Amino acid sequence: MTDSGRAIADYWDAAASSFDEEPDHGLRAAPTREAWARRVRGWLPAEPVDVLDVGCGTGSLAELVAAGGHRVTGVDVAPRMVARARAKLAAAGLAGRFLVGDAGAPPVRAGGFDVVLSRHVVWTLPDPERALRGWVRLLRPGGRLVLIEGRWREAGEPWAPYVAGAEHLPWGGGVGADELAAAVRPLVTDLRVEPLDGDAALWGGPVHDERYALVAER
Ligand SMILES: C[S@@+](CC[C@H](N)C(=O)[O-])C[C@H]1O[C@@H](n2cnc3c(N)ncnc32)[C@H](O)[C@@H]1O
Repeated sequence: MTDSGRAIADYWDAAASSFDEEPDHGLRAAPTREAWARRVRGWLPAEPVDVLDVGCGTGSLAELVAAGGHRVTGVDVAPRMVARARAKLAAAGLAGRFLVGDAGAPPVRAGGFDVVLSRHVVWTLPDPERALRGWVRLLRPGGRLVLIEGRWREAGEPWAPYVAGAEHLPWGGGVGADELAAAVRPLVTDLRVEPLDGDAALWGGPVHDERYALVAER
């Protein structure tokens, strides 16, 4: 791992203990949790499938995936995030497999997943386009890529790197739907973008930046 990769991993590891305090991270309020549960149900097939959550953090979405009857694997570079994800699913009495690993090369089998899901992760990767190509290879034919992303600032606002080394991130500060779609489109057969910024329940209140889900089929 590079020095900046180490600094980014350390940043998230240190953030793990307070990460769930944000409404859309911990999903502790019932309306926020239900809003995400409803979206997750809409993005996943009805029947139980194998889902990989890349950059799973404390496992909040993985928990919703498992609660929906799916088999979930989470990968995150920060060991404390992974520990919290394991504990969260165990406390809920749900099964889930959680691994420490790099989103750029998740330590899982190629072609082993029906859905690769990732929320708020590509913006903090050093080579997001390479990671996306790798994620598509993890899908079975007909599998689905679900990326929940956004731009964490108003249009035209400058972005301040959150840790040393982050200034080199190509999508630091977030990536707009058009740019992400342009990167994903050559890798998939079908692609749609679902705006999420108008659904205040997802975020614990109104938001004024761009937020969306990109759903694509391999
Ligand atoms: C904004 S958090 C999102 C967490 C989770 N997906 C969620 O939505 O609650 C970004 C996550 O990406 C993870 N992450 C950052 N760089 C990573 C990398 N190179 N490989 C794997 N995980 C990474 C961080 O540890 C952190 O858990």
